[in-house]
Amino acid sequence: MQPSDSPIPTLPLDPWCIRETGFDTASHFLRETLFALGNGYIGLRGTGEEGYSGAAGTSLDGTYLNGFYESEPIVYPEAAHALAKTNQFMLNVPNAKGIALTIDGERFDPLAGKLDRYERTLDFRTGVLVRVLEWTSQSGKRIALRSRRVVTFTNKHLFAIEFEVTALNFSGQVVLRSFIDGAVKNQEAGDDPRVGSAVSGPALQTISNEQQGSFAALVQRTHNSGFTLVSAIDSSVEGMSPSAWREGEQAGQVFTCEAVQGQPVCLTKFGAYYSSRDYPEGELLARAQDTLATAKAAGFEALCTAQAAYLADFWASADVEIAGDDALQQGIRFNQYHLLQSVGRDGRTNIAAKGVTGEGYEGHYFWDTEIYIFPFFLYSKPEIARKLLEYRYAGLEQARERARQMSHPTGALYPWRTIAGGECSAYFPAGTAQYHINADIAYSIKSYYEATADLDYMAQAGLEIVLETARIWLGIGSYDRQGRFCINEVTGPDEYTALVNNNYYTNAMARMHLHFAADMVDTIREERPGDFARITGATGLEAGEVDAWRQAAGLMHLPYDATLGIHEQDDSFLAKKVWDFANTPKENYPLLLNYHPMVIYRHQVCKQADVVLALLLLSSEFTLHDKRRDFDYYEAVTTHDSSLSSCIFSIIASEVGYHDKAYDYFMETARLDLDDTHGNTHYGVHTAAMAGTWMGVAYGFGGMRVSHGELRFAPTLPTQWQHYRFQVQLRGATLAVRVSGDGTEYTLVQGEALDFNHFGQAVALTRAAPQARIPLEAQA
Ligand code: BGC
Repeated sequence: MQPSDSPIPTLPLDPWCIRETGFDTASHFLRETLFALGNGYIGLRGTGEEGYSGAAGTSLDGTYLNGFYESEPIVYPEAAHALAKTNQFMLNVPNAKGIALTIDGERFDPLAGKLDRYERTLDFRTGVLVRVLEWTSQSGKRIALRSRRVVTFTNKHLFAIEFEVTALNFSGQVVLRSFIDGAVKNQEAGDDPRVGSAVSGPALQTISNEQQGSFAALVQRTHNSGFTLVSAIDSSVEGMSPSAWREGEQAGQVFTCEAVQGQPVCLTKFGAYYSSRDYPEGELLARAQDTLATAKAAGFEALCTAQAAYLADFWASADVEIAGDDALQQGIRFNQYHLLQSVGRDGRTNIAAKGVTGEGYEGHYFWDTEIYIFPFFLYSKPEIARKLLEYRYAGLEQARERARQMSHPTGALYPWRTIAGGECSAYFPAGTAQYHINADIAYSIKSYYEATADLDYMAQAGLEIVLETARIWLGIGSYDRQGRFCINEVTGPDEYTALVNNNYYTNAMARMHLHFAADMVDTIREERPGDFARITGATGLEAGEVDAWRQAAGLMHLPYDATLGIHEQDDSFLAKKVWDFANTPKENYPLLLNYHPMVIYRHQVCKQADVVLALLLLSSEFTLHDKRRDFDYYEAVTTHDSSLSSCIFSIIASEVGYHDKAYDYFMETARLDLDDTHGNTHYGVHTAAMAGTWMGVAYGFGGMRVSHGELRFAPTLPTQWQHYRFQVQLRGATLAVRVSGDGTEYTLVQGEALDFNHFGQAVALTRAAPQARIPLEAQA
């Protein structure tokens, strides 16, 4: 399935919504992703309830549940010990939003007859997808249709649709069929490893098709993962009783109405999904029935009100304001909104690379969460960040098992990609070999602890993860003849270089990790002796291990090339030939789709930020000169074929004073999905890049860093903007930062007091003196 080759026009600029005003099959596939709704669990692509004729090839009418998956054995023609054995992939589940409309025997289809008006809007403040259209049938009957759809943030199992039809130039029969379609399947991946799963055919087996008045449900089971799923709907039209309808794996209700010209007929539909991943199988149907009955009693409007209230609260703490650039303002809010729609917040699910908007990367969770997405939630909605950490704790036992498979007698190794905790990467050079995942998780725990001072969390779960994952570095590292601690045969973040010795990023992050683990062992031993005894009992931590961590960290080999004055990406990177960029045609990018991996690995060429990412995460370990030289060198050999790259280059460009570059890289990230700059948004949004936009503002232009618990800012204002404003939650306080041509204004919005640093100058805000204005001339 491929989208159209012709360029798709950008959507009109609006700071708080996306809107399209024409129905076009060429842009449909992409727009289904952009207009997708989600609540961290249910994801509904933005396809119309009625679908359209000949949709194959221009539409993927997907419905997803975060964390609900089927598993399949990974088949390797050549086996090897401890390769990942089972893949998990997010399933396309029954489409419960379907509504077929027939007027006097003619089926409403946007491609048959004539669309006189069409508008689809997704407003980030209401969280409701609205379509308004007027259509003339082939025989000349005109109708107006207004549909509203909401996937509720306050109940993860629920969505609702209001579908209102008005006969404009006739009175006659209007038939509304509201249904669930269980005959769905996932998309096949083909040659692009980023697209979907390798499985063809339906993965859900229908067990029963339930019907009772306005209620209908499909009960289905997955073959291999052994889950039961209930997809249920309740449909009503005021004053009418429906007749039951079923056909194959479809179930629903039919309403046959005598419509009077000018008088709307309104179908209200509530939908619910419950699976045995969350509840015992025997409870699923009753829970679905209950949810639907409660929603119906409250009514569609009440759900919309609750949705708007939830979003008002979200925007109050998360909004980033940019004055002077409408395209950017729309891009950044769109990104934040989609992050909220995508993130799992029940402690058992996480955030997939494509959220719940598409099947790209099979619904897997990666390091994208900890390094890219976590900061946005940590500083905007810390309670969600905490849930992401809980997810990792839930997977600790499986990470221990994985470590044993990988011949580590102690410790835990987290999977490179997974849904339920098992390693799912079938290509180990760019998968399991990315051992840095362990340090990435430790880094997020460290950031959480620094931002919240939540020692309870560290004692209950944080230390155990950090300690178990730290042990792996001693397991895979060793001292060389010069006494340096080396970590061999790993892959760093840059997936165009694989299986190398001493990847700079990995070693530097491992050093941070080992120090942090050792320090936290000391802290918990002193502050929480009871917890400490439990943790040492559970992990078998031995005397001497912590000293060994400190020693390895102190002697960590961090490759540096004195001639070039740069940090070397790994021991062999600089010895390789530089990729021939001048003679690589534009259409050969991304390289991964056009060259065998070995051809790429043999060259100095980066898919994404690697050393440059270390410059951000471990900021205080580098001088500004180091940063500039590393940036210059690696920029010249980086393709940014990964959507995770540009935001990091933007941040470091800001820091080293390359303001134009900072802006350009930022623009590439901020509207990556809205403008489909990577050409694959139809398969789902890019959640890491979306969060990279927030980092680009706060860390990049705002110059924010938190290190050793100290908060710093070094703001600059892009010449294109009048002002920008963002907020940060730290240790119970909320700080608003507003940067304009006049200088920087810091406001303590909530909390008792907050100390921080502005270009080296100490600033202390309190309830009594909650604001500081620092004029531009006082900056740097
Ligand atoms: C990137 C990885 C990333 C993955 C999922 C790949 O293209 O190279 O760093 O984790 O996409 O977003």
